[in-house]
Amino acid sequence: MVRQKASKVVIIGAGMVGSTYAYSLMINGVVSEIAIIDPNQERLEGEIMDLNHGISFVRPVSVYAGSYQDCSDADLIVICAGANQKPGETRIDLLSRNAAIFRSIIDQIKAVGTDALLLIASNPVDIMTYITCKLSDFPRERVIGSGTVLDSARFRFLISRNCHVDPSNVHAYIIGEHGDTEVPVWSLANIAGLRFGDYCPVCSRPCAKPFSKEEIFNEVKNAAYQIIKGKGATYYAIGLALVEITESILRDEYSVLTVSSLLDGEYGLKDVCLSLPCVVSRAGIEQKIQLELAPEEEAGLKHSAAVLQEIQRQIRF
Ligand code: 2OP
Repeated sequence: MVRQKASKVVIIGAGMVGSTYAYSLMINGVVSEIAIIDPNQERLEGEIMDLNHGISFVRPVSVYAGSYQDCSDADLIVICAGANQKPGETRIDLLSRNAAIFRSIIDQIKAVGTDALLLIASNPVDIMTYITCKLSDFPRERVIGSGTVLDSARFRFLISRNCHVDPSNVHAYIIGEHGDTEVPVWSLANIAGLRFGDYCPVCSRPCAKPFSKEEIFNEVKNAAYQIIKGKGATYYAIGLALVEITESILRDEYSVLTVSSLLDGEYGLKDVCLSLPCVVSRAGIEQKIQLELAPEEEAGLKHSAAVLQEIQRQIRF
Protein backbone atom coordinates (compact mmCIF):
# COMPACT_ATOMS: atom_id res chain seq x y z
CA MET A 1 0.00 0.00 0.00
CA VAL A 2 2.85 2.42 0.79
CA ARG A 3 4.22 4.13 -2.30
CA GLN A 4 6.19 7.29 -2.52
CA LYS A 5 6.93 9.77 -5.30
CA ALA A 6 8.48 13.21 -5.43
CA SER A 7 5.98 15.40 -3.64
CA LYS A 8 5.42 19.11 -3.45
CA VAL A 9 3.79 20.88 -0.51
CA VAL A 10 2.77 24.55 -0.53
CA ILE A 11 2.52 26.15 2.91
CA ILE A 12 0.46 29.33 3.15
CA GLY A 13 1.52 31.32 6.20
CA ALA A 14 5.07 31.53 7.54
CA GLY A 15 4.14 32.27 11.14
CA MET A 16 5.16 30.01 14.00
CA VAL A 17 2.90 27.10 12.95
CA GLY A 18 3.74 27.28 9.22
CA SER A 19 7.47 27.60 9.84
CA THR A 20 7.60 24.86 12.47
CA TYR A 21 5.66 22.59 10.15
CA ALA A 22 8.12 23.37 7.31
CA TYR A 23 11.04 22.58 9.62
CA SER A 24 9.52 19.31 10.82
CA LEU A 25 8.60 18.33 7.26
CA MET A 26 12.13 19.01 6.11
CA ILE A 27 13.54 16.73 8.82
CA ASN A 28 10.92 14.06 8.14
CA GLY A 29 12.05 13.75 4.51
CA VAL A 30 8.66 12.87 3.01
CA VAL A 31 8.64 15.73 0.47
CA SER A 32 11.02 16.93 -2.21
CA GLU A 33 9.72 20.50 -2.54
CA ILE A 34 8.34 22.94 0.02
CA ALA A 35 7.10 26.31 -1.28
CA ILE A 36 6.09 28.83 1.38
CA ILE A 37 3.83 31.81 0.75
CA ASP A 38 3.44 34.78 3.09
CA PRO A 39 2.58 38.43 2.45
CA ASN A 40 5.29 39.48 4.91
CA GLN A 41 8.20 39.06 2.49
CA GLU A 42 10.85 40.06 4.99
CA ARG A 43 9.78 37.44 7.52
CA LEU A 44 9.37 34.86 4.73
CA GLU A 45 12.90 35.48 3.39
CA GLY A 46 14.27 35.12 6.93
CA GLU A 47 12.50 31.79 7.43
CA ILE A 48 13.58 30.50 4.01
CA MET A 49 17.23 31.40 4.68
CA ASP A 50 17.16 29.76 8.11
CA LEU A 51 15.55 26.57 6.75
CA ASN A 52 17.90 26.42 3.76
CA HIS A 53 20.94 26.62 6.02
CA GLY A 54 19.81 23.29 7.53
CA ILE A 55 19.43 21.47 4.23
CA SER A 56 22.88 19.88 4.32
CA PHE A 57 21.76 18.03 7.46
CA VAL A 58 18.61 16.45 5.98
CA ARG A 59 17.57 14.48 2.91
CA PRO A 60 17.54 16.48 -0.35
CA VAL A 61 14.66 18.94 -0.39
CA SER A 62 14.07 22.29 -2.03
CA VAL A 63 12.63 24.98 0.25
CA TYR A 64 11.79 28.35 -1.28
CA ALA A 65 9.57 31.44 -1.17
CA GLY A 66 6.69 30.58 -3.47
CA SER A 67 3.70 32.26 -5.04
CA TYR A 68 0.13 31.09 -5.59
CA GLN A 69 1.29 29.80 -8.98
CA ASP A 70 3.04 27.02 -7.02
CA CYS A 71 -0.36 25.62 -6.06
CA SER A 72 -0.97 24.48 -9.66
CA ASP A 73 1.32 21.42 -9.44
CA ALA A 74 1.29 20.91 -5.66
CA ASP A 75 0.19 17.64 -4.07
CA LEU A 76 -0.87 19.31 -0.87
CA ILE A 77 -1.62 22.90 0.13
CA VAL A 78 -1.47 23.55 3.86
CA ILE A 79 -3.08 26.73 5.17
CA CYS A 80 -1.53 27.95 8.41
CA ALA A 81 -2.27 31.64 7.78
CA GLY A 82 -4.21 33.93 10.05
CA ALA A 83 -4.28 35.51 13.47
CA ASN A 84 -3.26 33.49 16.52
CA GLN A 85 -4.94 33.30 19.92
CA LYS A 86 -3.78 35.83 22.47
CA PRO A 87 -3.68 34.81 26.14
CA GLY A 88 -7.27 34.36 27.34
CA GLU A 89 -8.79 34.31 23.83
CA THR A 90 -10.73 31.29 22.60
CA ARG A 91 -10.14 29.84 19.14
CA ILE A 92 -13.61 31.13 18.17
CA ASP A 93 -12.53 34.70 18.99
CA LEU A 94 -10.25 34.56 15.94
CA LEU A 95 -13.07 33.89 13.55
CA SER A 96 -13.87 37.23 11.95
CA ARG A 97 -10.19 38.03 11.39
CA ASN A 98 -9.41 34.67 9.83
CA ALA A 99 -12.56 34.36 7.70
CA ALA A 100 -11.56 37.47 5.69
CA ILE A 101 -8.00 36.18 5.24
CA PHE A 102 -9.36 32.84 3.99
CA ARG A 103 -11.58 34.36 1.35
CA SER A 104 -8.57 35.99 -0.27
CA ILE A 105 -6.45 32.80 0.01
CA ILE A 106 -9.08 30.48 -1.47
CA ASP A 107 -9.83 32.93 -4.30
CA GLN A 108 -6.15 32.93 -5.25
CA ILE A 109 -5.89 29.12 -5.11
CA LYS A 110 -8.99 28.78 -7.28
CA ALA A 111 -7.69 31.33 -9.78
CA VAL A 112 -4.60 29.17 -10.34
CA GLY A 113 -6.44 25.83 -10.40
CA THR A 114 -5.08 22.73 -8.70
CA ASP A 115 -5.70 19.04 -8.03
CA ALA A 116 -4.01 19.30 -4.63
CA LEU A 117 -5.62 18.40 -1.33
CA LEU A 118 -6.22 21.26 1.09
CA LEU A 119 -5.14 20.85 4.71
CA ILE A 120 -6.31 23.55 7.10
CA ALA A 121 -4.51 24.34 10.36
CA SER A 122 -5.72 27.88 11.10
CA ASN A 123 -8.11 28.35 14.02
CA PRO A 124 -10.93 27.95 14.72
CA VAL A 125 -10.00 25.00 12.55
CA ASP A 126 -13.43 23.37 12.17
CA ILE A 127 -15.05 26.61 11.04
CA MET A 128 -12.10 27.46 8.78
CA THR A 129 -12.38 23.98 7.24
CA TYR A 130 -16.10 24.55 6.70
CA ILE A 131 -15.45 27.95 5.09
CA THR A 132 -12.81 26.35 2.85
CA CYS A 133 -15.23 23.61 1.76
CA LYS A 134 -17.83 26.20 0.84
CA LEU A 135 -15.52 28.70 -0.86
CA SER A 136 -13.34 26.21 -2.73
CA ASP A 137 -16.07 23.96 -4.16
CA PHE A 138 -13.55 21.11 -3.78
CA PRO A 139 -15.00 17.64 -3.20
CA ARG A 140 -15.40 17.18 0.56
CA GLU A 141 -12.79 14.39 0.75
CA ARG A 142 -10.11 16.83 -0.50
CA VAL A 143 -10.59 19.40 2.29
CA ILE A 144 -9.13 18.28 5.61
CA GLY A 145 -8.79 20.16 8.89
CA SER A 146 -6.07 19.27 11.38
CA GLY A 147 -9.00 18.95 13.80
CA THR A 148 -8.35 17.02 16.98
CA VAL A 149 -5.25 15.14 15.80
CA LEU A 150 -3.28 17.25 18.27
CA ASP A 151 -5.86 16.81 21.07
CA SER A 152 -5.83 13.03 20.56
CA ALA A 153 -2.02 13.14 20.80
CA ARG A 154 -2.25 15.15 24.02
CA PHE A 155 -4.84 12.66 25.33
CA ARG A 156 -2.67 9.65 24.48
CA PHE A 157 0.39 11.30 26.03
CA LEU A 158 -1.38 12.06 29.30
CA ILE A 159 -2.91 8.57 29.54
CA SER A 160 0.47 7.05 28.75
CA ARG A 161 2.12 9.12 31.48
CA ASN A 162 -0.63 8.25 33.96
CA CYS A 163 -0.28 4.54 33.21
CA HIS A 164 3.49 4.41 32.59
CA VAL A 165 3.27 3.02 29.04
CA ASP A 166 4.48 4.16 25.64
CA PRO A 167 1.90 6.52 23.98
CA SER A 168 2.09 4.36 20.85
CA ASN A 169 0.43 1.57 22.88
CA VAL A 170 -2.46 3.83 23.85
CA HIS A 171 -5.42 4.13 21.48
CA ALA A 172 -7.68 6.97 22.48
CA TYR A 173 -9.51 9.66 20.55
CA ILE A 174 -10.75 13.16 21.11
CA ILE A 175 -13.59 13.91 18.68
CA GLY A 176 -15.83 16.88 17.86
CA GLU A 177 -14.65 20.48 17.88
CA HIS A 178 -10.96 21.29 18.22
CA GLY A 179 -11.85 23.55 21.11
CA ASP A 180 -13.92 23.96 24.21
CA THR A 181 -16.67 21.43 23.33
CA GLU A 182 -14.35 18.58 22.30
CA VAL A 183 -15.27 15.08 23.49
CA PRO A 184 -12.98 12.41 24.99
CA VAL A 185 -13.99 8.90 23.89
CA TRP A 186 -13.20 7.19 27.21
CA SER A 187 -15.52 4.26 26.47
CA LEU A 188 -13.19 3.00 23.70
CA ALA A 189 -9.81 4.18 25.06
CA ASN A 190 -7.51 1.19 25.36
CA ILE A 191 -4.03 0.14 26.37
CA ALA A 192 -2.61 -3.07 24.92
CA GLY A 193 -6.09 -4.07 23.82
CA LEU A 194 -7.54 -3.56 27.31
CA ARG A 195 -10.16 -0.91 27.97
CA PHE A 196 -8.79 1.93 30.09
CA GLY A 197 -10.67 0.78 33.21
CA ASP A 198 -9.56 -2.84 32.73
CA TYR A 199 -5.90 -1.88 32.55
CA CYS A 200 -5.79 -0.70 36.20
CA PRO A 201 -6.15 -4.20 37.75
CA VAL A 202 -3.24 -5.57 35.66
CA CYS A 203 -0.99 -2.54 36.26
CA SER A 204 1.27 -2.93 39.27
CA ARG A 205 2.24 0.76 39.63
CA PRO A 206 0.46 3.68 41.29
CA CYS A 207 -1.07 6.24 38.89
CA ALA A 208 1.01 9.26 37.96
CA LYS A 209 -0.40 12.79 37.66
CA PRO A 210 -2.93 13.75 36.30
CA PHE A 211 -4.79 11.11 38.32
CA SER A 212 -8.44 11.07 37.34
CA LYS A 213 -10.19 10.89 33.97
CA GLU A 214 -11.55 14.36 34.63
CA GLU A 215 -8.10 15.77 35.36
CA ILE A 216 -6.64 14.12 32.26
CA PHE A 217 -9.34 15.49 29.99
CA ASN A 218 -9.20 18.98 31.53
CA GLU A 219 -5.49 19.05 30.89
CA VAL A 220 -6.08 18.05 27.24
CA LYS A 221 -8.82 20.64 26.75
CA ASN A 222 -6.93 23.45 28.43
CA ALA A 223 -3.48 22.62 27.09
CA ALA A 224 -3.44 25.37 24.45
CA TYR A 225 -4.57 28.03 26.97
CA GLN A 226 -1.81 26.96 29.32
CA ILE A 227 0.88 26.93 26.63
CA ILE A 228 -0.22 30.29 25.20
CA LYS A 229 -0.16 31.81 28.69
CA GLY A 230 3.34 30.47 29.19
CA LYS A 231 5.06 31.08 25.84
CA GLY A 232 2.61 33.02 23.65
CA ALA A 233 1.77 30.34 21.07
CA THR A 234 1.68 26.60 20.40
CA TYR A 235 3.62 25.30 17.42
CA TYR A 236 5.86 22.25 18.00
CA ALA A 237 3.16 19.63 18.53
CA ILE A 238 0.81 21.04 15.87
CA GLY A 239 3.79 21.12 13.45
CA LEU A 240 4.34 17.40 14.08
CA ALA A 241 0.60 16.66 13.88
CA LEU A 242 0.56 18.29 10.43
CA VAL A 243 3.54 16.16 9.38
CA GLU A 244 1.68 13.03 10.52
CA ILE A 245 -1.33 13.99 8.37
CA THR A 246 0.98 14.92 5.46
CA GLU A 247 2.71 11.54 5.62
CA SER A 248 -0.55 9.67 5.60
CA ILE A 249 -1.60 11.61 2.50
CA LEU A 250 1.64 11.62 0.51
CA ARG A 251 2.68 8.08 1.39
CA ASP A 252 -0.87 6.81 0.88
CA GLU A 253 -0.75 5.25 4.34
CA TYR A 254 -4.44 4.90 5.17
CA SER A 255 -3.71 6.00 8.76
CA VAL A 256 -6.61 6.59 11.12
CA LEU A 257 -6.46 10.20 12.26
CA THR A 258 -9.00 12.44 14.00
CA VAL A 259 -9.07 15.08 11.28
CA SER A 260 -11.91 17.52 10.70
CA SER A 261 -14.09 17.10 7.63
CA LEU A 262 -17.51 18.00 6.30
CA LEU A 263 -19.99 15.52 7.72
CA ASP A 264 -22.62 13.89 5.56
CA GLY A 265 -25.09 12.22 7.89
CA GLU A 266 -22.69 10.57 10.36
CA TYR A 267 -24.51 10.44 13.75
CA GLY A 268 -27.33 12.28 11.94
CA LEU A 269 -25.08 15.34 11.47
CA LYS A 270 -24.70 17.30 8.23
CA ASP A 271 -23.30 20.60 7.03
CA VAL A 272 -20.73 20.93 9.77
CA CYS A 273 -17.01 20.16 9.95
CA LEU A 274 -15.71 18.39 13.01
CA SER A 275 -13.35 15.57 13.88
CA LEU A 276 -14.06 11.86 13.79
CA PRO A 277 -11.47 9.11 13.30
CA CYS A 278 -10.92 9.06 9.52
CA VAL A 279 -8.88 6.87 7.19
CA VAL A 280 -6.55 9.27 5.37
CA SER A 281 -4.85 8.45 2.06
CA ARG A 282 -3.52 10.17 -1.05
CA ALA A 283 -7.15 10.70 -2.08
CA GLY A 284 -7.84 12.53 1.19
CA ILE A 285 -10.61 11.34 3.52
CA GLU A 286 -11.18 7.74 2.42
CA GLN A 287 -13.60 6.91 5.18
CA LYS A 288 -15.05 8.37 8.36
CA ILE A 289 -15.26 5.76 11.06
CA GLN A 290 -18.49 5.83 13.02
CA LEU A 291 -17.62 4.59 16.49
CA GLU A 292 -20.10 3.00 18.82
CA LEU A 293 -20.09 5.83 21.32
CA ALA A 294 -21.44 5.83 24.87
CA PRO A 295 -24.69 7.87 25.06
CA GLU A 296 -22.98 10.81 26.83
CA GLU A 297 -20.21 10.82 24.20
CA GLU A 298 -22.70 10.92 21.33
CA ALA A 299 -24.59 13.69 23.11
CA GLY A 300 -21.28 15.57 23.53
CA LEU A 301 -20.56 15.20 19.81
CA LYS A 302 -24.01 16.55 18.92
CA HIS A 303 -23.53 19.45 21.30
CA SER A 304 -20.18 20.20 19.63
CA ALA A 305 -21.89 20.18 16.21
CA ALA A 306 -24.71 22.44 17.45
CA VAL A 307 -22.24 24.97 18.83
CA LEU A 308 -20.26 25.02 15.57
CA GLN A 309 -23.42 25.31 13.46
CA GLU A 310 -24.65 28.23 15.53
CA ILE A 311 -21.35 30.01 14.85
CA GLN A 312 -21.57 29.13 11.14
CA ARG A 313 -25.00 30.76 11.01
CA GLN A 314 -23.55 34.00 12.34
CA ILE A 315 -20.58 34.37 10.00
CA ARG A 316 -20.49 35.91 6.57
CA PHE A 317 -17.75 34.76 4.23
C1 2OP B 1 -3.53 24.19 19.94
O1 2OP B 1 -4.43 23.46 20.38
C2 2OP B 1 -3.75 26.62 19.55
O2 2OP B 1 -5.14 25.13 18.44
C3 2OP B 1 -3.88 25.27 18.96
O3 2OP B 1 -2.36 24.07 20.31
